[in-house]
Amino acid sequence: MARTQLCIFLVVIHCLGLGAAQAGFPVELNSTFSTTGSRNVRIDTGTYGPPVEEYHYFYDQWPIGLAVSKTGRVFTCYTRGTYNYTLGEVVNETAEAPYPNLELNTPPDGLYSETNGIMFGSSDSSHFISVQALYVTPDDTLWVLDSGRPTINQSSRPSSTYAAPGGPKLVAIDLSTDKVTRTYTLPPSVHYPDSYMNDLRFDLRTNATAAGGGIVYIVDSSNEGRTGFIMIDLATGESWRQLSQHPSTLAVYEVVPSYNGIPFYQRQKGHTLGFQSPGNDGAELDQHGEVMYYSALTTDYLYSIETKYLRANPSLDPLADKRASDNVKNLRQRGGNANGFAGDSLGNVYMLMPEHNAIFIYNYTTGLTVPYVRDSRMVWPDSANAGWDGYLYFTINQLPYQPDLNDGVDGRVYPGLILRVKMPDGANKNTLLI
Ligand SMILES: *[C@@H]1O[C@H](CO)[C@@H](O)[C@H](O)[C@H]1NC(C)=O
Ligand SMILES: *[C@@H]1O[C@H](CO)[C@@H](O)[C@H](O)[C@H]1NC(C)=O
Ligand SMILES: *[C@@H]1O[C@H](CO)[C@@H](O)[C@H](O)[C@H]1NC(C)=O
Ligand SMILES: *[C@@H]1O[C@H](CO)[C@@H](O)[C@H](O)[C@H]1NC(C)=O
Ligand SMILES: *[C@@H]1O[C@H](CO)[C@@H](O)[C@H](O)[C@H]1NC(C)=O
Ligand SMILES: *[C@@H]1O[C@H](CO)[C@@H](O)[C@H](O)[C@H]1NC(C)=O
Repeated sequence: MARTQLCIFLVVIHCLGLGAAQAGFPVELNSTFSTTGSRNVRIDTGTYGPPVEEYHYFYDQWPIGLAVSKTGRVFTCYTRGTYNYTLGEVVNETAEAPYPNLELNTPPDGLYSETNGIMFGSSDSSHFISVQALYVTPDDTLWVLDSGRPTINQSSRPSSTYAAPGGPKLVAIDLSTDKVTRTYTLPPSVHYPDSYMNDLRFDLRTNATAAGGGIVYIVDSSNEGRTGFIMIDLATGESWRQLSQHPSTLAVYEVVPSYNGIPFYQRQKGHTLGFQSPGNDGAELDQHGEVMYYSALTTDYLYSIETKYLRANPSLDPLADKRASDNVKNLRQRGGNANGFAGDSLGNVYMLMPEHNAIFIYNYTTGLTVPYVRDSRMVWPDSANAGWDGYLYFTINQLPYQPDLNDGVDGRVYPGLILRVKMPDGANKNTLLI
């Protein structure tokens, strides 16, 4: 008897005390619940975290990537298609303009051509074809990542083009002059016809490479499956791959995520039932530039690798591939599929979680993923960027509702959005100590 009573006593203490925190549901996130009706029925509000601000509205084109400059200029890109331009600058709350001008956004010979019945994206290296991602480095350079692979209507059947060398490229624009200063293209041994350059991160420190001009890390999310990382030495222009088809970079086979509570299958006009198939998609450096966190769009698993293994050029070291492959860390599950990543000066790794209309943070100190912000307006958070002003900016584009994935029916409703939230604890842009 006495013994039993003692046990009950301890249980009660436990429940009143640390119970809630230990169960893993942070008390400060209880805005996720409310009650309604005469019986006070508890409901999920779909909301938690810091206030979400509507920063920009898209009415003409659906955005993919974005980047915020040191002085607060905001650039966005749009994969195409039929859009008039693929790189834009936000000019006011509701409009953008082609950047740096319409001419650079208009390849004179068109976006694609046909060879032996196969559609190739343009090989034009001096015009933008289909810009997928943007990044602003601490020297206020805007870096433009052109996949070179527009989506086209082939006999009214949407399809992705293959890349022709020259089309896929990295372009640097000096934001003080709005002029292109550098263009990097890739040989077919590094960028395959079915590669898809999806996102990019930089280390411009002089000690990052032997030549001292910095390095870019690019994720290859190839829907066709030859996924991995592409690196370019920014001083020499030399490029190489790592983790090609490493299991950590591959798409999950026939994944069925749920978006807004609806199990998702890809229904493309003229094609059999499909599945989301981008591989290596989100990637972010830690605040020291020494670790890359990454994952495929279609997985619940997070991975990391020390960047020294990605920087090792296999043409100089025949064991570089093997070492990279052997040094991938599986950080296990993080609570869902993740889209774009972002990082900040404190080392928070933000992951956009399209199944949850949320952004989670991976904390490498604890090895745990924690909730950060969730909001019903976050219908497919696509790409995020930490500003110098302490805000995390991210695009919302309703991507699973696009016609290419829904038998040609466009279920998206304008406007698309740039939303922003304050980063925690005074965090700022990660400038890698520059
Ligand atoms: C969370 O719940 C506690 C206890 O009921 C309450 O005092 C607090 O105001 C709530 N916080 C929010 C953000 O709703
Ligand atoms: C695209 O260009 C065409 C022809 O100049 C113009 O009629 C159309 O309004 C433009 N569309 C957008 C969204 O700017
Ligand atoms: C935003 O810019 C567009 C294009 O220049 C213009 O048509 C529109 O009136 C502007 N809106 C506001 C609120 O200033
Ligand atoms: C593709 O073709 C179909 C049928 O002709 C048309 O309805 C659709 O608007 C086209 N899509 C694009 C992106 O051109
Ligand atoms: C480069 O220098 C920074 C500090 O100056 C240091 O933290 C970092 O480890 C160095 N990186 C390499 C690859 O040597
Ligand atoms: C991660 O968790 C640790 C331990 O709770 C905490 O001190 C730190 O502020 C968190 N954030 C980051 C970015 O490490």
